[in-house]
Amino acid sequence: MSDRTPIIAGNWKMYKTTAEAAAYMEEFKGLVADVTGVEIIVCPPYTSLGNVKELAQGSNILVAAQNMHFEPEGAFTGEVSAPMLIDIDADGVILGHSERRQYFNETDLALAKKVRVALDAGLLPIYCCGETDAEREAGSTEEKIRRQIIDGLSEVGSARLASVVVAYEPIWAIGTGKTATPQIAQDTISLVRGTLADQYGSEAAGQVRILYGGSVKPENIGELMAEEDIDGALVGGASLDAPGFARIVKYR
Ligand code: PGA
Repeated sequence: MSDRTPIIAGNWKMYKTTAEAAAYMEEFKGLVADVTGVEIIVCPPYTSLGNVKELAQGSNILVAAQNMHFEPEGAFTGEVSAPMLIDIDADGVILGHSERRQYFNETDLALAKKVRVALDAGLLPIYCCGETDAEREAGSTEEKIRRQIIDGLSEVGSARLASVVVAYEPIWAIGTGKTATPQIAQDTISLVRGTLADQYGSEAAGQVRILYGGSVKPENIGELMAEEDIDGALVGGASLDAPGFARIVKYR
């Protein structure tokens, strides 16, 4: 067992109105009130982020955004900055989710800036990486993951590495119901940790929390968390239901 505190994070994506988000929080808070030793994070869309953070005050639930621009302000229509997230007391931000990379052309270079800016602002960055089905079939998973880790975290520096959370999410497992086997998840996450060790040294790499994401549900969280290098989960679909997500949070 490592001494890394596990993280279970729920990525709501583009789901839930403000009323739905509030109702969820009222229920979820009670369901997880007795949980200790696990960092619980919910990631609502921007419209309910501030409200969810207010509802989470005094609870054991942290609140993170799903994206952020690297500039503090400016003419960037549709974007939200780190100071704006700090303004509503957000705790963290997901960066480089595969849907952002695929549909909004996010690059490792831009993500490197975002990770640095999030750290500068005191936000917990949850940096996502992962390969497609075709890349895994072609045997290029290692190359893809190493590139995303080296380039996307290039502006971090070893002193702050422990403040970064990495989420390994194989794209073929996201929203497909096709979870990676615990062995595949462990092997690839160990590759992530090895890449971090090459770049920053094994002590710094050993402190980084690395999450698995992709069709995580109450039925498979236990076997995933039993793996040595898996420090938590980034949960999409199964985080939308408060009782179901509470079961994942209470995997032990
Ligand atoms: P999923 O999504 O749990 O619905 O597969 C995971 C994610 O995209 O973070």
